[in-house]
Amino acid sequence: KVHKIAVLAGDGIGKEVMPEGIRAVEAAARRFNIGIEWTTFEWPSCDYYLQHGKMMPDDWMDQLKGFDALFFGAVGWPETVPDHVSLWGSLLKFRRQFDQYINLRPVRLLPGVPCPLANKQPGDIDFYIVRENTEGEYSSVGGRMFEGTDREFVLQESIFTRTGVDRVLKFAFELAQQRPKKHLTSATKSNGISISMPYWDERVDAMGLSYPEVRHDKYHIDILAARFVLSPERFDVVVASNLFGDILSDLGPACAGTIGIAPSANLNPDRIFPSLFEPVHGSAPDIYGRNIANPIAMVWCGAMMLDFLGHKEAHDAIVAAVERCLVDGPRTPDMGGTATTTEVGKAIAAII
Ligand code: NAI
Ligand code: MG
Repeated sequence: KVHKIAVLAGDGIGKEVMPEGIRAVEAAARRFNIGIEWTTFEWPSCDYYLQHGKMMPDDWMDQLKGFDALFFGAVGWPETVPDHVSLWGSLLKFRRQFDQYINLRPVRLLPGVPCPLANKQPGDIDFYIVRENTEGEYSSVGGRMFEGTDREFVLQESIFTRTGVDRVLKFAFELAQQRPKKHLTSATKSNGISISMPYWDERVDAMGLSYPEVRHDKYHIDILAARFVLSPERFDVVVASNLFGDILSDLGPACAGTIGIAPSANLNPDRIFPSLFEPVHGSAPDIYGRNIANPIAMVWCGAMMLDFLGHKEAHDAIVAAVERCLVDGPRTPDMGGTATTTEVGKAIAAII
């Protein structure tokens, strides 16, 4: 089977790291004899917006829905297009319309990466964050009344559906089941948020009954955030609602090194719609145009994409190549080196 992949490089360094992500995936595809067909799109991007008044054409969904995966760089160019316009006009549409209800981020301290936490070795930090990506606290239900008066009030509801909660928990338990430690941690706040979070906890316990081999525990989000920093070695799979997961999934990668290496996936595990693979970082206008962006996040995204498409061996080969490059290969300036984006990308591809 040939995998059809849409290339959406976007803006800024998205355009610089994308060729290196493709280079790594192609190297792995050659080594493991995987068929890949790339199709490049000029949108979504702020350049497209300046010409057309929107980030993408109206029929974007028809154009993209037949692909097996979306390989996404970053969008955003705040000098010309406000960030909420570029983000809501592209990435957030993909997540919602393609029902990418899992946001998955690996958090791993790799060898050769300076760790901001004291006394941590590679191997100490190795877990996944599974964030609910479609409902919860990020609902658009609510409103504002009596604006500008003393009676002004605003209201925004959280929405937790049984289907929405159970499907993210199921994904997280399945992932934990496949890992050696078989340990799942749920983020909650059922002491303070007294209706929706006790419900979340109940569903965690109910789902746990179907996974007797997986040990599960829960932490309130405040102490959980502290434990990410103080004792990250205790985690294996962490599952969280949309808001809590959003916060944890930036904190986690920050604990494991620079933003230039952190990947993420927005998954539709039912495979009705394409899933999207993107670096955690944005378009970095401050360094764009100098070919110094770190391509490792994009390369690692390529590995996650191949894993999701059924090629675990290709994933492992790319991650191993990244690890080796971090130890004795060229480095971009954010990692203390002087190499270019292209040099690092080529070095990784050569190792693969
Ligand atoms: P950013 O992630 O683009 O940059 C933050 C800092 O990290 C900058 O100093 C940048 O130079 C550095 N950095 C980021 N990626 C790097 C890499 N690969 N190698 C070396 N250094 C790297 O976040 P910022 O500055 O808040 O946002 C810039 C634009 O990106 C905005 O328009 C924002 O909306 C957009 N953005 C888009 C995202 C997406 O497409 N998913 C995610 C985050 C931001
Ligand atoms: Mg975030």
